[in-house]
Amino acid sequence: MKTDKVTVPGLIKKKSEGEKIVFLTAYDYFTAKQLDAAGADGLLVGDSLNMVVYGHENTLSLPLDQILYHTEAVSRGAKRAMVVGDMPFMSYQPSLEDAVRNAGRFLKEAGAHAVKLEGGIEMIDVVMRIVESGIPVMGHIGLTPQSIFKFGGYRVQGKEETEKTYLFESAEALQEAGCFSIVLEAVKSKIAEEITKRIEIPTIGIGAGPGCDGQIMVINDLMGMDEDFYAKFVRRYFNLGQKIREVGEQYAKDVRSGDYPSKDESY
Ligand code: KIV
Repeated sequence: MKTDKVTVPGLIKKKSEGEKIVFLTAYDYFTAKQLDAAGADGLLVGDSLNMVVYGHENTLSLPLDQILYHTEAVSRGAKRAMVVGDMPFMSYQPSLEDAVRNAGRFLKEAGAHAVKLEGGIEMIDVVMRIVESGIPVMGHIGLTPQSIFKFGGYRVQGKEETEKTYLFESAEALQEAGCFSIVLEAVKSKIAEEITKRIEIPTIGIGAGPGCDGQIMVINDLMGMDEDFYAKFVRRYFNLGQKIREVGEQYAKDVRSGDYPSKDESY
């Protein structure tokens, strides 16, 4: 079992030594504890919380306090992994003061070690101000779900020449601004690989191919919680949604037939 605590310099060292970095999302104490024990390097309390836990259509309506509660639970479960809190929509966009204050809440109130925020060149001032206040920042470019209405849908980034230029310039600018790593979401593999070569901080891919320094996946997708969700890049390791239904059906049958509780299961 890995015991060394994962730190910002430690993650950058992993890149320089060619060691792949393992990130997963987590939203609660128990899952965090298990994934930490499994050796995940980082646990992101993603704003995907709004969709996979709360059942919303997108991430936009997630309140800051709500993700702080979940981050606090994850922090309690993570002994070794780095905990990254995802800044929700409108918690960093309105002003630099809001951005620093709200980023600080993840560390002060919820035990996170770093924050993540979406956006490239247009977010450089925000990243710089948060980093200046001593808070490590993970960037996030490519498909950034908080801008879903700007994109007009969830689609792969980097097909158009302007998108490519934006991605390269943003990755370099985010590194310059002090980000310790960058999530590349739904980016053409070749571009993700090229960005990874050009910058010294680790790239963490999701739907961005094997050329990134590490990978991140939404734990619910990995576990097969939602049978209706399909994405090409997801490797489903289990059918948890189906298993929960089967257990529920069996329990209902046992209760209705009088089989449960038995004498041995009663006081
Ligand atoms: O919210 C989230 O889970 C994320 C990951 C997909 C990177 O941002």
